Amino acid sequence: MIDFNRPAIVGNELKYIQDAVAQGMLCGDGKYTKLCSEWMKKRFDVNQVFLTTSCTHALEMAAFLCDIQPGDEVIMPSYTFVSTADAFVLRGAKIVFVDIRPDTMNIDENLIEQAITDKTRAIVPVHYAGVGCEMNKIMELAKKYNLKVVEDAGPNPCPPIVVGVGIGGTFDKAALLAKKALMRNTNVRNADPFYAQLEEEMLEKINALGIGPQGVGGKTTALAVNIEKMPTHIAGLPIAVNINCHVTRHKSVEL
Ligand SMILES: Cc1ncc(COP(=O)(O)O)c(C=O)c1O
Repeated sequence: MIDFNRPAIVGNELKYIQDAVAQGMLCGDGKYTKLCSEWMKKRFDVNQVFLTTSCTHALEMAAFLCDIQPGDEVIMPSYTFVSTADAFVLRGAKIVFVDIRPDTMNIDENLIEQAITDKTRAIVPVHYAGVGCEMNKIMELAKKYNLKVVEDAGPNPCPPIVVGVGIGGTFDKAALLAKKALMRNTNVRNADPFYAQLEEEMLEKINALGIGPQGVGGKTTALAVNIEKMPTHIAGLPIAVNINCHVTRHKSVEL
């Protein structure tokens, strides 16, 4: 038996799929896209919601909406994924890379102003690995120079998340254990009651944060905390944490 992933099933899926097929519109932007957009508009109190199938598409759409023209300059961090730059390069923009901060790996907000010229049209901060950029400072600069701001949150897991924790061994082993922990099914607890209880306690604390699915609030921020451990020297206790979104893709094989 090989599992590629295990999606969460709530019960109405088949009914809605049948309805979507009956509507004759399966390529997106149909009845359910509209229902979802309407819900998000109300929930976030915004005028427009445009759903896309990926962060890359969202960035490309943002570049259109910013009306980027050939020769315009767009500021972004020197450390990011190719899609951040590609979306604006497609519109003919010149990308101006600004160094990142070593502590957050995010764009250094104090280096942005010196990169602004009369051709600058937009700043694209990337919120790296769950750490937010200094948005107050960035929005201040955008206001001062009349620039658009496109926030790229592409490298973050979308809740509900699965948290893998590796404890013990050497640090490289702990990192591997954290990955291994993510591969365990969400309904299987650590065989050691001590760690099983720790998993439950951590899950409870994460869910008490109220972040909820897709960050829109609720009790299910994480589906599981899985811990894997190894013996280690008493003088050091390496711990690694790996966070993945709910579609944590994995395979299991029974031989
Ligand atoms: C910073 C950043 N932007 C954009 C993307 C693209 O996201 P997607 O794979 O959803 O197109 C990624 C993907 O890793 C990313 O890390």
